[in-house]
Amino acid sequence: MASSHPALLDVRVRAKHFGPRHVLDALQLQLRAGEIVSLVGASGCGKSTLLRLSAGLDRDFRGTVRLDGRVLDEPVRDIGFIFQEPRLFPWCTVAENVSFDLGRGGRGHARVAPLLAEVGLAGYEAALPKQLSGGQAQRVALARGLFTQPRVLLLDEPFSAVDAFTRIKLQELLVDVARRHGITVLLVTHDIEEAVLLSDRVLVLEAQPGRLSEDIAVSLPRPRERNGAPLAALRAQVFDALHAVQAL
Ligand SMILES: Nc1ncnc2c1ncn2[C@@H]1O[C@H](COP(=O)(O)OP(=O)(O)O)[C@@H](O)[C@H]1O
Ligand SMILES: [Mg+2]
Repeated sequence: MASSHPALLDVRVRAKHFGPRHVLDALQLQLRAGEIVSLVGASGCGKSTLLRLSAGLDRDFRGTVRLDGRVLDEPVRDIGFIFQEPRLFPWCTVAENVSFDLGRGGRGHARVAPLLAEVGLAGYEAALPKQLSGGQAQRVALARGLFTQPRVLLLDEPFSAVDAFTRIKLQELLVDVARRHGITVLLVTHDIEEAVLLSDRVLVLEAQPGRLSEDIAVSLPRPRERNGAPLAALRAQVFDALHAVQAL
């Protein structure tokens, strides 16, 4: 990578262990500003671990994480994190969940209503999580992730618990909001179609220990045709790469 275009997020892992288990080894991950990058690999190969240490949520590893050149040694607002489950607080309203970063005082914050409108939940401020479908709850989680105005959003299999129709809508929403807010995205997914449809690059991880095996560029114009031939060819390429590392 040319030094005139340094990575926005630069993750260099020499090694990560859980007890005797060597989970990640000699792995570098660089995200340029505005990129959408997917991470795929076998279950247990270390994707969530890599995401957590990229967010500064786990510092027990050898290596460094830099955001815009600065070494990250704790979680920062510039990096948002979205989990597979929405993880909303059941006793808080939708608005309180979105503005959770500011505590209860954030409830009436001016950014809440426009963010809810943006994720397709205009008027849901006073609703409680139990009144929402799984897809709506994940939309709230996305709004909460955007509330802190992060530069980078890390998502760990965010759509794997919702039905296929909802997933398609949420995938489109993610790309839209990332573009609109100029957010750089790192997405862990086990869905090959999702990876090639959404990403500028797909990174394939091999297991035991986790290392980067392939970095596949997806240089197709957007919006992309989900069932078009170019995407099918890339799906096959990612499939082959996963096969090569015995992930399938
Ligand atoms: N907190 C932990 N303590 C011990 N082992 C862990 C912990 N978290 C993950 N692991 C192990 O590290 C490996 C990678 O896990 P993970 O990053 O969750 O994989 P993935 O997200 O790719 O499925 C797995 O073998 C898992 O069992
Ligand atoms: Mg995982």
